[in-house]
Parts: sequence; C-alpha cells; structure tokens
Amino acid sequence: MILLLAMALTVPTFNKEVAPILFARCAGCHRPDNIAPMSLLDYKSARPWAKGIKASVAARKMPPWFADPRFGHFSNDARLSDAELKTIAAWVDGGAPEGDANDLPPAPKFVEGWALGKPDAVIDIGEDHQIAPGDDVYEKFVVPTNFAEGRWVRAAEIKPGNRQVVHHVHVHVLAAQDNPAAKPAAPKRKMATLSEYLLKEGKLTRIMKDAPVWNDGCADKVPELPFLTGAQEGGLAAFLPGRAPDQFPEGTAKWVPAGAKLEFQIHYAQVKGKPQTDRTSVGFHFLNGPPRQALRRMDLRNFFMQIPAGEANHEVRRCYDFESDRYLISFTPHMHYRGKDAKYELVRPNGQSETLLAVPHYDFNWQLVYRLQKPMFVEKGSRLMVTVHYDNSRNNKANPDPQATVRWGDKTEEEMMTSWIEYLDASPSAQLQPSEAARAR
Ligand code: HEC
Repeated sequence: MILLLAMALTVPTFNKEVAPILFARCAGCHRPDNIAPMSLLDYKSARPWAKGIKASVAARKMPPWFADPRFGHFSNDARLSDAELKTIAAWVDGGAPEGDANDLPPAPKFVEGWALGKPDAVIDIGEDHQIAPGDDVYEKFVVPTNFAEGRWVRAAEIKPGNRQVVHHVHVHVLAAQDNPAAKPAAPKRKMATLSEYLLKEGKLTRIMKDAPVWNDGCADKVPELPFLTGAQEGGLAAFLPGRAPDQFPEGTAKWVPAGAKLEFQIHYAQVKGKPQTDRTSVGFHFLNGPPRQALRRMDLRNFFMQIPAGEANHEVRRCYDFESDRYLISFTPHMHYRGKDAKYELVRPNGQSETLLAVPHYDFNWQLVYRLQKPMFVEKGSRLMVTVHYDNSRNNKANPDPQATVRWGDKTEEEMMTSWIEYLDASPSAQLQPSEAARAR
C-alpha cells in the first residue's frame, strides 16, 4: 500500500510535467491543421498516442533531427534532453495520468497561418493557380514587390496556399542592378554554360544523359565544368518539408532592392484526384535600418554526378575553396529519394580538419536546416568538403527505380546534390558598404 502510494506520487502527470514538454517541443507541428497527423496540445488528443510517443522519442524519431550528435553544435537542435525523455517514459509507464487541472500551463498561442506572427508585407504568386491531377510539376511565378525603397529582410516565411499539393517552394530575388547581394559569382575562367547541358522536358529540367560524368568534385584535378567549383549565389527563402521559416541571425538581414521582382519556384507534387488551386505567398519581416552584416547564401552543387543502377553506396563530392574570410551560419543538404547520408568537413590552411555536420541517415521527407550555435570563422584558403552517398539499390524502400542510372534533375525521381550554406563576409572590405546601408534607410 505504501509502495503503491509512493509510486503514484512519483508518476509524472500530463498537466504538470508532460504538457510543458509537448507544448515546447512537439506542438509546433502537432496541432490542429498542421503537418503532423495528430494534435498533442491537450490530454484527450495526446492520451491515445502515449505508447507511440514514448517509442518515437526513445528512438529519437521525434522530434525529427538528423545530425550526428558527435559533430557540431546547432541552435535549432531538436533533440529532447535525457531528463525530458525520462519524464515521458515515466509518464507512459505509469499509465499516462492526466493529473490536476490546476497544474496545466496555458497552451502556446500560434498566430493563425503565420508561424512568425503577422508579417510586415505579404507577396503572393499573383494568381489562383490551377494544378491538374497528374505528374510532378515545377512552376515559376515572377511577381513585383512594388517596394518603393530597398528593404532589409530579417525573416521570410513562405506560406503554401495549399498544403496538399505544395511540396516545396524557393523564393529568389531577381537580380536587379543595384543589388550587390544578388549578383551571381562570376566564373573565373570562360567555360561552357550549364544550360548547354540541360534539357527541358515540359516544365522540368534535367541534365542530358550524355553530359560529362564527374562524381568527385574534390579530386586533385576537376574538369572545367559549370559550377563544379566555386559557388552560386543562393536564394532568399525556402519552404521545405520539416524546415522552419527563414529567420536570419540577430544583426543580419538580406537585402531586397527597390522595385525588385520575386521569383517563386514551386514544386507541386503528384496531384491526385480532383484539380487543386494554390496561391502561395511569402511574408516578410523587415529590419528598421541596416543590419550589422548582410547575410548571404552560397549554393554548392554537383550537376555532373551519375549514380549507377543498383549501387547501394554511391559517393558524390563537391568542394569549395574559400577565397576570403567568412563566417559560416548554417547548412542545408538537399538530395532526393536516393539520398543516404551527407557530411561537411572543413580543412583549414594549416591542415587541421574537422567535421562540421554529419547526417548519417538522410531522409527526403525531412529537409532540415542545421544552424550553427555560433557563427564559425573560416579563413581564406580553407576547403569545405561535402561528401554524400546515394542508395540506388532495392534495399532503399524510397527508391522509385533501382534499375535506373540516375543523373541530375528537378524531378524527385531524378537526383540532386545541393548544399545551401549561409554565411557572412568576414573581411572588413566585404562588410556592409555605407552606400548599401544608406539606401536601406
Ligand atoms: C517538425 C515537425 C514535428 C515535430 C517538432 C514533432 N513531430 Fe511528431 N510527427 C510529425 C509528422 C509530420 C509526423 C507524421 C509523419 C511521420 O511519422 O514521419 C509525426 C509523427 C509522430 C508520431 C507517430 C505517429 C504514427 O503514425 O505512428 C508520434 C508518436 C509523434 N510524431 C510524436 C511526437 C512527439 C512526442 C514530439 C515532440 C517530442 C514530436 N512528435 C515532434 C511532425 C513533428
């Protein structure tokens, strides 16, 4: 009897110990009308899932987080602490009691539709776009911002107009003359342009089957193929499965010049059943005045990879040699169904090397951004090595066709090898130009 009483006393309750964890760590997705299958905001909805909750957190399937904990420290690390895991396990093992209503903290408030709160400006794709049932489609929409003056954007949240069909969205600022941040890094030597190797099939693009093949972008000698070295200037914001809205680090912002146009690239994935309508938008949060630093993004890609049919562990690499001092801010690896793992390593000019991020089990359904806890200084002459593997074998359950030789393409059934890397320029000359700052006022 005494023993039973003591046990009852130590079992955590939903209202007291468990709800605060679920509210803080799960409800962002597990609430009505969001991406997760059930709400964890109240006892009635959560209770039937108690066993599943314990199992999924113990296996670290939930919350989704894929970085190997041995490398790097990330500000958006979603993993539960050991104490939180213990509390959940003890609650479930103790019968998942509700507890005293007075213990229940208020549920978190979510602004309807906008995770970051009401934006300062909202720009949509300009039409109610119809998507017919059928295959994957990529659509581009170019719309004016009508900004009378340039703006510094500290956060950009993309809101899919129709979550059933919008798989992912990229928003780019179309290069305007007074936008230094949008100028693509000019290739140093004259070489073939990428478009010479690309083929448009309807609205989708892929590389030609007979384009040169080059998997090891970190080899001693890399052929002069477009974007196999250097970096491309990246986009403004993205919506990807599982990715939080783009909020740029304190003191940094991205510049959108006066009169700029935005390009939305939207992937509408395999629409089934009846035709659908979408009107996706992006909400901007502005900074009043210039930031300390302009945030930039470089995109590293290997367009020339080729994955042999059936190959279970095909390696593709891409390297970037720093031509100036920079601070690294975040990494986003991107592959499709055959993506297996990804690793980011840095070799400094003195030969010292370190692993910045390792994603041992890449999952196409969860395209997370990994934000470094602190900006990481990288000196000129360092080399960033991105190594990924693909599983094109039958054992990969997500593999749509193990018999296909796979190359680069927009379509999810084809592949990509892309990394987005957010950074700040560290050399004083590259920091915010006064003219740039003046324009922003
Ligand atoms: C980033 C969004 C996100 C967060 C954060 C998140 N979940 Fe999930 N969760 C999902 C989605 C989406 C699914 C359904 C797809 C899947 O299982 O991958 C899911 C599935 C689940 C399932 C399995 C349901 C089933 O069908 O078996 C459980 C249990 C679960 N989540 C519990 C949790 C708990 C507990 C937390 C917090 C500690 C959490 N989740 C945090 C998005 C999230």
